[in-house]
Amino acid sequence: MAIQRLPHILQLSVLLVLSTSWATSASADHENFVHCLLNHSQPSHPIAPAIYSPNNASYSSVLESYIRNLRFNTSTTRKPFLILTALHESHVQISVVCAQIHNLQMKIRSGGHDYEGVSYVAEVPFFILDMFNLRSIHVDIKSETAWVQAGATLGEVYYRIAEKSKTHGFPAGVCPTVGVGGHFSGGGYGNMMRKYGLSVDNIVDAQLVNVHGELLDRKSMGEDLFWAITGGGGASFGVVIAYKINLVRVPEIVTVFRVSRTLEQNATDIVYRWQYIADKLDDDLFIRLTMDVVNGTSSNSSGENNKTLRASFIAMFLGDSERLLSIMNKSFPELGLKQSDCAEMSWAQSVLFWTSFPTGTATEALLSRTPQVLTRLKRKSDYVKKPIPKTGLKWIFQKMIELEAPMLTFNPYGGKMSEISASATPFPHRAGNLWKVQYATNWDILGTEASDHYIELTRKLHMYMTPFVSKNPREAFYNYKDLDIGINHNANGMSSYLEGRVYGIKYFKHNFDRLANVKTKVDPGNFFRNEQSIPTLPH
Ligand SMILES: Cc1cc2nc3c(=O)[nH]c(=O)nc-3n(C[C@H](O)[C@H](O)[C@H](O)COP(=O)(O)OP(=O)(O)OC[C@H]3O[C@@H](n4cnc5c(N)ncnc54)[C@H](O)[C@@H]3O)c2cc1C
Ligand SMILES: *[C@@H]1O[C@H](CO)[C@@H](O)[C@H](O)[C@H]1NC(C)=O
Ligand SMILES: *[C@@H]1O[C@H](CO)[C@@H](O)[C@H](O)[C@H]1NC(C)=O
Ligand SMILES: *[C@@H]1O[C@H](CO)[C@@H](O)[C@H](O)[C@H]1NC(C)=O
Ligand SMILES: *[C@@H]1O[C@H](CO)[C@@H](O)[C@H](O)[C@H]1NC(C)=O
Ligand SMILES: *[C@@H]1O[C@H](CO)[C@@H](O)[C@H](O)[C@H]1NC(C)=O
Ligand SMILES: *[C@@H]1O[C@H](CO)[C@@H](O)[C@H](O)[C@H]1NC(C)=O
Ligand SMILES: *[C@@H]1O[C@H](CO)[C@@H](O)[C@H](O)[C@H]1NC(C)=O
Ligand SMILES: *[C@@H]1O[C@H](CO)[C@@H](O)[C@H](O)[C@H]1NC(C)=O
Repeated sequence: MAIQRLPHILQLSVLLVLSTSWATSASADHENFVHCLLNHSQPSHPIAPAIYSPNNASYSSVLESYIRNLRFNTSTTRKPFLILTALHESHVQISVVCAQIHNLQMKIRSGGHDYEGVSYVAEVPFFILDMFNLRSIHVDIKSETAWVQAGATLGEVYYRIAEKSKTHGFPAGVCPTVGVGGHFSGGGYGNMMRKYGLSVDNIVDAQLVNVHGELLDRKSMGEDLFWAITGGGGASFGVVIAYKINLVRVPEIVTVFRVSRTLEQNATDIVYRWQYIADKLDDDLFIRLTMDVVNGTSSNSSGENNKTLRASFIAMFLGDSERLLSIMNKSFPELGLKQSDCAEMSWAQSVLFWTSFPTGTATEALLSRTPQVLTRLKRKSDYVKKPIPKTGLKWIFQKMIELEAPMLTFNPYGGKMSEISASATPFPHRAGNLWKVQYATNWDILGTEASDHYIELTRKLHMYMTPFVSKNPREAFYNYKDLDIGINHNANGMSSYLEGRVYGIKYFKHNFDRLANVKTKVDPGNFFRNEQSIPTLPH
């Protein structure tokens, strides 16, 4: 568009430059972008200290600080031409305006936990708008609300709540280093979802910078846009600066347990039973089921350890162990839960238990921004609507033993999840779903060969599960980003819409159309785009 306003002769020479020397014109673009940033910077909030170009000594460490999937920490992964570590809202506004003037691809990163690295990897030249400095948290126990900025981690949110109240919490993810920006905007589930729903079911206001660089709140953005950024992913619509959340009540003492059973310990029968009770239990009780392959106790004829399948039942109970044991005795006696399996603790300590910190770890560990484990990983998701027959379970377990590496996690729904309408937020997977499946493979071996191998194993397990999971569409959870289910290669037009529909329907079902409508209204030029963003409607 800028070219159209230039005189004819100049236009030709610009085109010549573009066609003969991409590299020079790209770096000139980047330089002009930096000038634009500096030029628009307010004297009270200089932007210069937030700009990291590749020649800055700290560039690599800033980039790597929030790479949470080491699959994308390689020398061949495309690097951003600049990282802007916003120190103030105005820096976000300026970067949105300048990036459009210079037609640059922006990636927004908060906690960097995107499973496909979408917040810090791109196929085209790009810069990162890094939000980690915008991480303030204001908890108000009197009104039972909090304002939390996008760059805060879940652990910081939990810690700041627990610091002020022993009887308040917030329903969000299990891993404390996950960022608010991506997690809340994409749904956000955790071990209190059967009682209180998702994070987005408890968001009451937001601050967002839109495509015009304006800072909006719920009132000024309107209900449609607010709806979109509470489950439809923020990155298609703007830059989330902060969310206002309703805190939820938790008892002073909660109870947790983790109990494992192998095939030799009747895991198949117990898993089979779990399927019939997990979504119907008391709302105070959430029992996650994780299945992985471990060494058995018996050696086979070649003297090697036979592999077996291990089913682990990990529970969060909003109450004491006595009530938990009586519920378990009534609803799930097959597990054989004993008092000695249970541990009573504060809600904040339960977060540490769930993320496998040793018992007795001080809650300050929630403030650490260093993840406990960093690996190469692949994730996929599914939804199950009816129990898997015992023969099916046996078959899947056999396949898992063959594949060895991929793990399965079943997160039960029901309770509050079934009470909330499927269109209340963009997250559509409500009543009718018994549980969500996560496929998870982690590996430490460097190189694309290993990556390809482990990704392929994950895809195979996903394929084996086909008969047992949702169809038409085969649903997927947006926060479990999986580029296997579709990528958008086009910025605009019918092909962009059609490509977007492929993954959009799986993530959002009938809500996809409303999301595309909102997108078309608020960002018709599709500035806020990525591999799996919401497309605009074709004309
Ligand atoms: C170890 C681990 C544990 C997890 N556990 C859970 C769990 O228990 N429950 C669950 O629901 N999910 C879980 N997830 C998935 C997680 O919720 C998503 O990956 C989430 O998007 C991460 O948010 P982030 O800010 O850390 O990620 P980022 O990588 O920074 O961002 C993810 C996406 O959101 C966009 N985005 C980020 N910030 C903003 C912003 N301020 N404005 C607009 N767009 C933005 C990014 O551009 C990107 O598309 C887990 C992930 C990991 C790696
Ligand atoms: C910066 O601002 C000055 C004065 O406002 C203007 O003349 C100049 O063109 C601007 N430069 C850029 C790169 O925007
Ligand atoms: C790197 O960037 C930071 C922040 O902008 C700045 O303080 C520092 O001086 C830069 N260092 C170099 C070597 O450019
Ligand atoms: C990421 O890669 C860089 C460069 O090879 C390396 O120095 C760094 O240790 C890696 N990070 C992790 C956590 O492995
Ligand atoms: C497995 O189930 C059988 C039959 O129900 C039972 O006899 C046996 O004790 C169980 N084994 C374990 C380890 O629970
Ligand atoms: C090894 O495990 C398989 C099932 O995974 C089982 O059929 C077989 O009997 C086991 N062999 C031994 C020696 O335990
Ligand atoms: C499992 O057994 C194999 C040998 O079959 C061994 O190399 C490996 O270390 C064992 N793993 C664990 C966790 O014990
Ligand atoms: C013994 O177990 C190992 C590890 O599970 C397996 O690789 C091997 O094929 C088994 N051998 C026989 C004869 O079953
Ligand atoms: C479980 O319930 C049965 C009868 O309903 C009772 O006999 C038994 O003692 C209970 N066990 C526990 C551990 O509460």
